[in-house]
Amino acid sequence: MNIKWVGAKKTIYDAVGGREWFEELVDHFYENVEINQRIRHLYPDDLTLPKKNTSDFLIQYWGGPSDYSERRGHPRLRMRHAPFQIGFEERDAWMDHMRNALEAMNPTIEIKEAMLEYFEMASTHMINVEI
Ligand code: HEM
Repeated sequence: MNIKWVGAKKTIYDAVGGREWFEELVDHFYENVEINQRIRHLYPDDLTLPKKNTSDFLIQYWGGPSDYSERRGHPRLRMRHAPFQIGFEERDAWMDHMRNALEAMNPTIEIKEAMLEYFEMASTHMINVEI
């Protein structure tokens, strides 16, 4: 038998199947941004870089390779979002798009709940306008 020891703890990155899974998730997310138009105006016309930035970040966050920080440095997400006006409406639109993208990827319930918890928390943290 050829059993390879891969360590006691599998990361979420490994559990979903690696880079491609996150790239697909992020493609779905930006597809929703395009179709829905609620926050499309905040993003540049060309979504190539936002796609790459978002998927590299999520790959790193969930235990994959740290390409994001090698290319962009420390994430400092709140600071990087400061140029965009993010209120409750923008936050909710972002969250809806990500929730739909996640549904489309059909992860296990544990992974879905872990990601939703993170996204809820982090997207709320990105709100930077007073209402
Ligand atoms: C869980 C919450 C969020 C995460 C993990 C996240 C992640 C990211 C990342 C990694 C970047 C690229 C930063 C860089 O390297 O320059 C980015 C950019 C951006 N985000 Fe978010 N974001 C979140 C919430 C939001 C929300 C609520 C909005 C508001 C609608 C938003 C709008 C944008 C915009 C407009 C950009 C610029 C696009 C670009 O050039 O990359 N984000 N986000």
